[in-house]
Amino acid sequence: MSEGHEITQARHDPVMVREVLDVLDLKPGNTVVDGTLGLSGHARIFADAIRPGGTLLGIDWDEKMLEIGRQRMSEVSGINTHFVHSNYRHIASIVRSRGLVPNGILLDFGLNSAQIDDPERGIAFSKDGPLDMRMDRSKGEPASALLNRLSPNEIENILFEFGDERWSKAIAKKIVERRKENPLRTTKDLVDAVFAAIPAGARDKRIHPATRTFQAVRIAVNAELEGIDETLVDAANCLAAGGTLAVLSYHSGEDRQAKRAFKELTATSEFQDLFKKPKQPSAEEILRNPRSRSAKLRAIRRILT
Ligand SMILES: C[S@@+](CC[C@H](N)C(=O)[O-])C[C@H]1O[C@@H](n2cnc3c(N)ncnc32)[C@H](O)[C@@H]1O
Repeated sequence: MSEGHEITQARHDPVMVREVLDVLDLKPGNTVVDGTLGLSGHARIFADAIRPGGTLLGIDWDEKMLEIGRQRMSEVSGINTHFVHSNYRHIASIVRSRGLVPNGILLDFGLNSAQIDDPERGIAFSKDGPLDMRMDRSKGEPASALLNRLSPNEIENILFEFGDERWSKAIAKKIVERRKENPLRTTKDLVDAVFAAIPAGARDKRIHPATRTFQAVRIAVNAELEGIDETLVDAANCLAAGGTLAVLSYHSGEDRQAKRAFKELTATSEFQDLFKKPKQPSAEEILRNPRSRSAKLRAIRRILT
């Protein structure tokens, strides 16, 4: 696929747009930070709310996504833009080093449809490709190297903890057995190991049997759940008085950390939860965009002083 083709073709439906806009309550001239820019679905909508004169900072650790997001934002006029290739864990120092004081921050965790659907990344079990899964190809270890190196116990723990996979022990054992002869190289190698480990009659009929394994390995490869709570506390502390941090999570491990961080922040009486129970997408949105079904939105506001 050529670069130009990727830019026009890549698709991702931004999740809970109306709800996110409502909680952020952006005004013309405001500063907003999108810590997970992706294909700029949310960011382009924010641009409409903050023009004229507003500022948008977009961060993504995936260079390809950042480039597509940046290109798409170039169609937007009347605002100042900054784009940074980085892990959102560094959000506080990125924001402060640019002298920004955000009125709104969004973190939309996970990955976008264009990343899932790209066979070169090895994230989707439905497409054969190199078993890589890294979001930032400039760092870290591909999934194949990780699974060819870890002990059976370590693999089992990853599958259980990040994927809730009840066949974690059998799958880990099968991976280790197979890699002795043929080290894992492709997504198909991992799918085959999962099928060989779970007896046909015990396979989940509702989801592909490799779904949980692929999710778990991807989370481990990218250390996706590490330090989310600290990042959220740091991000909230950058907000302007009256500013809002909104978080969209898709995995119980992400939402648990968001809940913990917000509890810590509201204990200081400098912040307030906008709602106690997280909001979820409407039935209509789930029907239109099934990938939104697990989304949970939490939001916290820095109290006006
Ligand atoms: C769900 S998508 C965001 C979609 C975006 N809101 C839109 O509407 O187009 C999540 C994005 O966050 C990026 N991302 C995930 N974890 C990240 C991290 N730790 N640091 C920076 N970017 C991250 C992914 O590469 C992906 O592009």
